[in-house]
Amino acid sequence: MDTKRMAICAISGFLSLALGGTVMAGGPADDKLVIDGEIEIITRTAAPDGHPLGELISGWHYRTEETRALEADSFQNPGMLYVERGAEIWNTVEGDAGKSCASCHEDASETMKGVGASYPKWNEAAGKPFNIELQINECREANMGAKPYKFDAADQKALTTYIKHQSLGMPVGIDLSTGAMQEWWDKGKEVYYTRTGQLNLACATCHEGYNGMFIRADHLSQGNVNGFPTYRLKQADMVSLHNRFRGCIRDTRAEFPPAFSDSLMALEVYVTWRSSGLSVETPAVRQ
Ligand code: HEC
Ligand code: HEC
Repeated sequence: MDTKRMAICAISGFLSLALGGTVMAGGPADDKLVIDGEIEIITRTAAPDGHPLGELISGWHYRTEETRALEADSFQNPGMLYVERGAEIWNTVEGDAGKSCASCHEDASETMKGVGASYPKWNEAAGKPFNIELQINECREANMGAKPYKFDAADQKALTTYIKHQSLGMPVGIDLSTGAMQEWWDKGKEVYYTRTGQLNLACATCHEGYNGMFIRADHLSQGNVNGFPTYRLKQADMVSLHNRFRGCIRDTRAEFPPAFSDSLMALEVYVTWRSSGLSVETPAVRQ
């Protein structure tokens, strides 16, 4: 047995002990995602310069055939109900100013096309990157006189899903040249590689070193973010990105930071860059 193989076996043994299940090797499925026979999704692409992996592979390839089929058919994709709900919210007047999102942004299929693919984005006034959720709250407070959504409120997830869905099929690409985006990327990278928790695992341990392996019934992907918010069959609900981050951190048995905290926003900037060039799949279907 060569050294690399031995190292993999050692970590597999460790992970299976720590996580209480078997760890087996496997690979991403050889398949193509075309939604409704029309929209071709880039699920494999060359990684950007400086990326530790050569090829980026969407989490879709790591799911079962049944789960993959659900995402390929928008009539069957349960996440599409949240897109519909998002469209309703978009057109609903709320708050003291008597406005809806549509009052200012009109037809989302035109004005929001590409927006979801380019977030997080530098927000000069706030002096930090904004994701779609923070931008929605900003518009609700400043432009509508409405209350910001609480983290993971059903309407926050539906509206975020609706906005991201307007970029379906478009490649993820964020601008690191504005404001202090590069510093946030650096900070996010540090978070990604820092081992935490009783299990002493970093994001990179699972998603970079051991993607393709099975942990319990889960097939480890590269942890790409292009499908978020995603519909998770296990939870029968939409799962936001920060909820997923927190779940993954909790699995290492570490304390997790609050949603939208600087540390998770930095992580979002960095991990979104890691998914550069993959198509937006929102709402992706995962297990
Ligand atoms: C009174 C007008 C107004 C209302 C109402 C409003 N917005 Fe905005 N919104 C703006 C302005 C102004 C900007 C910043 C300029 C821009 O980027 O278009 C903006 C920016 C945005 C952006 C970022 C666009 C980009 O290209 O980066 C998103 C996303 C957004 N709004 C979503 C919403 C949503 C969702 C609602 C309803 C909850 C909403 N807005 C309500 C005026 C409004
Ligand atoms: C103990 C291993 C482990 C660690 C450590 C871990 N994850 Fe995960 N993660 C998983 C598993 C298992 C899944 C579900 C299957 C999959 O897509 O990999 C997952 C899924 C994800 C997904 C969703 C992928 C998709 O296609 O929907 C993202 C994003 C993600 N993780 C990011 C992270 C980040 C960021 C960190 C570090 C804070 C992290 N993970 C740490 C095991 C881990």
